[in-house]
Amino acid sequence: MPLVAPSLLAADFLHLADVCKLVNESEADWFHLDVMDGRFVPNISFGIPVIEFIRKAARKPLDVHLMIEEPEKLTPAFKKAGADMLIIHLETCRNLHSNIQQIRALGMQPAVAINPHTPVELLKDILPDLHHVLIMTVNPGFGGQSFIPHSLEKVREMKKMIAETGRDILIEVDGGITIGNAHSLVEAGADILVAGTTIFQPKDPKQVIHLLKNS
Ligand code: DX5
Ligand code: ZN
Repeated sequence: MPLVAPSLLAADFLHLADVCKLVNESEADWFHLDVMDGRFVPNISFGIPVIEFIRKAARKPLDVHLMIEEPEKLTPAFKKAGADMLIIHLETCRNLHSNIQQIRALGMQPAVAINPHTPVELLKDILPDLHHVLIMTVNPGFGGQSFIPHSLEKVREMKKMIAETGRDILIEVDGGITIGNAHSLVEAGADILVAGTTIFQPKDPKQVIHLLKNS
């Protein structure tokens, strides 16, 4: 059964307390929080003060996805805000290994995300140091985009690479995930499904979370 991490980017920001309550009461496993800086991605979402408030209401781990340049400068601030897992993008790091060590030293679980154009092979040397990897299945920056079909092949390749390490490193997929494509992603090897629009657009988010859990 995959883990499900609702992305609050698609939720109603005017009622974040209700949204947190809903996720707490649902079968979801983690909260997925998307931080954007308007530089690495062409959009700005929310940041540290908002995460501090979500932390107070959330009863599940916070999986914080940093789509920001020079993430190492803000890593301690995200720890302080309450992040349990911190995802940084390979494309934003000149010293990826040291950034991962920094995240661990602060007591968070490190993860690395790759964009659709980035080959999974580039994560090979860093893999044993990670808690999970995030394969972007859309270009980062916006919710509500269509799933890029080639991502399935990347998940399969990543699964093989992880098997070779003999370690238990999880594969997360993010972007354009629907009830329709979730099963093929899980079959390809995805362990964590991130979903925003699919969960928060319809009237019954808990039911959608249930369906994703059972994909
Ligand atoms: C996109 C974010 C995603 C986004 C997914 O840059 O990383 O987490 O919220 O949204 P949907 O599920 O709507 O594609
Ligand atoms: Zn995300």
